[in-house]
Amino acid sequence: MDWIIDATRKEILKHPARFKILSCGRRWGKSMVSLLFLLHKPFKPNERRWIVFPTYRQAKMVSWSILKSVFAQKNVSINETELSITLDNGAKIELKGADRGEDSLRGVSVNMVVMDEYAFMKENVWGGSHTTNFSRNTKEQHYLLVHQVD
Ligand SMILES: Nc1ncnc2c1ncn2[C@@H]1O[C@H](COP(=O)(O)OP(=O)(O)OP(=O)(O)O)[C@@H](O)[C@H]1O
Ligand SMILES: [Mg+2]
Repeated sequence: MDWIIDATRKEILKHPARFKILSCGRRWGKSMVSLLFLLHKPFKPNERRWIVFPTYRQAKMVSWSILKSVFAQKNVSINETELSITLDNGAKIELKGADRGEDSLRGVSVNMVVMDEYAFMKENVWGGSHTTNFSRNTKEQHYLLVHQVD
């Protein structure tokens, strides 16, 4: 994969805000910049990073093969059902589907979260009382919310 990281994308990645919202047109490269966002910082031992899609199927279709290709030939463990990759220092990257129920999105502390096409998710996926995982955020957590505008 030859990644394009132009000035606009660099600005998105480097901006210090902990909460970023990206509103871009169709096929702008939102899902690709989401992966760049998730992967561009060094991985601390045992940390967790997620990309949440409206559905598990979408997560698998849009980003799973690209994510795996980034770690090809690396010393990682790949779980095809969970759509997760665990690095040798215990850091774990997971693709999630918001359709799998709020339970699958709570109870663990996550360091970086992307919500791709978040406008198609139920309101309580983000910060509602059911999703303590997202609302219990600390200074170490960074979020990117991505959605399409016409
Ligand atoms: N940063 C990038 N580096 C390399 N290729 C890219 C990059 N951004 C986009 N592309 C190319 O453009 C295609 C569309 O990108 P992407 O799926 O990220 O767009 P999108 O805005 O999420 O699209 P959609 O509106 O369908 O959700 C990718 O499959 C890839 O081939
Ligand atoms: Mg997309």
